[in-house]
Amino acid sequence: MNLQILRLFTSEYMNKEVWKAGNMLYPLPVVMVSCKREGEKPNIITVAWAGTVCTNPPMVSISVRPERYSYDILAETKEFVINLTTRDLARATDYCGVRSGRDVDKYKEMGLQVQESSKISAPGIKESPVNIECKLKEIIKLGSHDLFLANVEAIQVDRSLLTEKGKLELGRSNPIVYSHGEYYDLGNLIGTFGYSVKKSSKNSKQVERGSVTRKTVEKSAAIEKTKHKEEYHSKRIKDKQKNNQKSNAKDRKSKT
Ligand SMILES: Cc1cc2nc3c(=O)[nH]c(=O)nc-3n(C[C@H](O)[C@H](O)[C@H](O)COP(=O)(O)O)c2cc1C
Repeated sequence: MNLQILRLFTSEYMNKEVWKAGNMLYPLPVVMVSCKREGEKPNIITVAWAGTVCTNPPMVSISVRPERYSYDILAETKEFVINLTTRDLARATDYCGVRSGRDVDKYKEMGLQVQESSKISAPGIKESPVNIECKLKEIIKLGSHDLFLANVEAIQVDRSLLTEKGKLELGRSNPIVYSHGEYYDLGNLIGTFGYSVKKSSKNSKQVERGSVTRKTVEKSAAIEKTKHKEEYHSKRIKDKQKNNQKSNAKDRKSKT
């Protein structure tokens, strides 16, 4: 019996089926990519094969099938805008993924407004909370899809999602994800970056249970910060006192 078949029958694999290679990396952001060729109407293509690929310089990628109407526009103009999607934009997101710009004006059909970009000619979508303006760097031919590797030139962010201090609260836009053929919103906030290694606080159990609100997480982070500040200051005072004691002792010695 061949080794792979043998493995299938061992207890290690009893609860899982082994499938042939395919695409199963879910959930994914689902975005609306807008583009425009001079003298033509702007177009939107829904893309789930999209990702952040580099922090510095900020770079993103989208994968597009050559047969899409948008493909040539993207390749020729070398510009596009990645528009983040929300619960309110879910229907438009799906529509722009099942109708072609060859046949319809998707902006018009979905009642979306064209938004001027700040650094590129391709327009964004006004109703989207975040518009990522991109310039194409390279097209990498892969197979069914080609990968459009791009530099991020600028980002437009909805002011209503900013705190007084200018922090973006993206969760308030009700972002959506695409998971194996289905759209979802994000549900509960279950933690913030690095919470797993932070000193346990009163709210850590709530965080793990997923019952915590943004306010409680932020409150607990603020408490931790104050605690660290207090610890730091009391350590500095103690160090100062120790140094003073040492120099006083030295003075006394030198006087004797
Ligand atoms: C949820 C969803 C995700 C999609 N992701 C991609 C993708 O990553 N790449 C792609 O080429 N097409 C993708 N499509 C299909 C295109 O959006 C669709 O073919 C669209 O009608 C193309 O528009 P166009 O002909 O105006 O360019 C997706 C469609 C949906 C509904």
